[in-house]
Amino acid sequence: MTKDNSLKETKRQIEFMHKAGKIVEQRSKALSRPLYAMTVTFGCQMNFRDSEKIDGALREMGFLKASSEEQADVLIYNTCTVRENADKRLFGRLGVCKAYKNKNKNMIIGVCGCMMQEKQVVDRIKKEYPHVDLIFGTHNIFAFSELLYKKMSEGGFVADILESTDKIVEDLPTERKYSFKTGINIMFGCDNFCTYCIVPYVRGRERSRKPADIVDEIKRAADDGVKEIMLLGQNVNSYGKGLDTDVTFAKLLKEAASVDGIRRIRFMTSHPKDLSDELIEVMAENENIARHIHLPLQSGSDRILEAMNRHYTREGYISLTEKLKKAVPDIAITTDIIVGFPGEDVQDVSDTIDVIEQVGFDGAFTFEYSPRTGTAAAKMEQLDKGFVQENFDRVLKTVHKVAWERSRRFEGRVMEVLIEGEDEKDPERYTGRISQNNVVHFPKSGYHVGDLVQVRLDECRGFYYNGTVVP
Ligand code: SAH
Ligand code: SF4
Ligand code: F3S
Repeated sequence: MTKDNSLKETKRQIEFMHKAGKIVEQRSKALSRPLYAMTVTFGCQMNFRDSEKIDGALREMGFLKASSEEQADVLIYNTCTVRENADKRLFGRLGVCKAYKNKNKNMIIGVCGCMMQEKQVVDRIKKEYPHVDLIFGTHNIFAFSELLYKKMSEGGFVADILESTDKIVEDLPTERKYSFKTGINIMFGCDNFCTYCIVPYVRGRERSRKPADIVDEIKRAADDGVKEIMLLGQNVNSYGKGLDTDVTFAKLLKEAASVDGIRRIRFMTSHPKDLSDELIEVMAENENIARHIHLPLQSGSDRILEAMNRHYTREGYISLTEKLKKAVPDIAITTDIIVGFPGEDVQDVSDTIDVIEQVGFDGAFTFEYSPRTGTAAAKMEQLDKGFVQENFDRVLKTVHKVAWERSRRFEGRVMEVLIEGEDEKDPERYTGRISQNNVVHFPKSGYHVGDLVQVRLDECRGFYYNGTVVP
């Protein structure tokens, strides 16, 4: 899509925001109260970023933030379908919000995101949840304003789902959830087709944004006072494919690191098969790139890795982590692990456990394999649930043991902490994170949310620290 077309689309959408805004104004006058909106987000950082765009549009239309789902005049669920329990959670919520709509007849309920790219889900919502007013998918999230305006001006049921897109619409307004940190999309979609994964089917083919557009967005964020950014993509390491410049992720990261005011840069997610030496070098050379990498392992068995279509071996993975540790001292490495992939036996699980121990992960999300419609692995013979549960428990025990040992390593050190907010359990204390992503709680002592402060990590309490500010 050309820059001109992208700008035209942005302008069109902003016009819809203004038109919808007029209706909001009229309704608000008639009701003698403001109108409220809320977005509920499931899933990954990509979805959270998409929701910030929806929230930006709602703000432009004049909606205030609802403090509960029940209070909302417009309620949007942004869905995830990466595992089965994500689906269950949405249907539970949709059941509950029927009662809200009975009380507020003009309430508009919308559902969007990854689940909407699955035909059987949309059919089920239409049939079983007729109180849903608006459905759209991942490829036309940019058209949210147009669709909501249509619903508000014409009524009826509005559904618009595209099979695919090559569009990247730039410069839409967004509403940042946090003033001091934000996600920045660098690419959309995924071409990797790991055999268990639905993401390539619901997010479409991989498309990279132009480096100049990304850097502009980072500069604007820095001007607004943002200190920490997270560059987002399903596989950031393959960034740049299909662009007409020879940019790589490492080059982009280096440029991002040089933007004035950006104190910390994170990125998600790195696929081990595409992690380059150039990237490791850039991390080592730039102090403001977080000393943390999330590097999904999925399995420590070569046989299973191959069946998963991951394109690396256990040895390859281990040597990557060794290179990272050598070049970037103090780096924290976290991972994702799937237990129960079709064909996985006790030995495969032991291989995974062995890699967890060898690498010494700082943290790991462990998932039970969940068959997803349309994926290659869903057609394979599935394992017995009890057997998977036993293996899952073995893996989880190892993960806890290893991560617990690892996280103690910073005890007693003074480290830089970005203050993220008040400690939920104690209003006299703040909660923040160190570059490695570990959480630290400490007494407030006159600082503000978004400040970077030096904190002594006095005591490790498993997965977080208690500390004191060092003036
Ligand atoms: N693009 C990222 C992962 C996105 S999905 C990457 O490649 O690293 C986040 C995690 O969900 C994956 O790393 C994987 O561990 C898990 N996952 C994906 N599909 C799954 C499935 N069908 N069952 C269980 N876990 C799954
Ligand atoms: Fe899914 Fe694999 Fe793409 Fe990650 S890289 S989103 S796991 S297909
Ligand atoms: Fe879920 Fe979609 Fe992200 S399926 S994990 S929200 S890309």
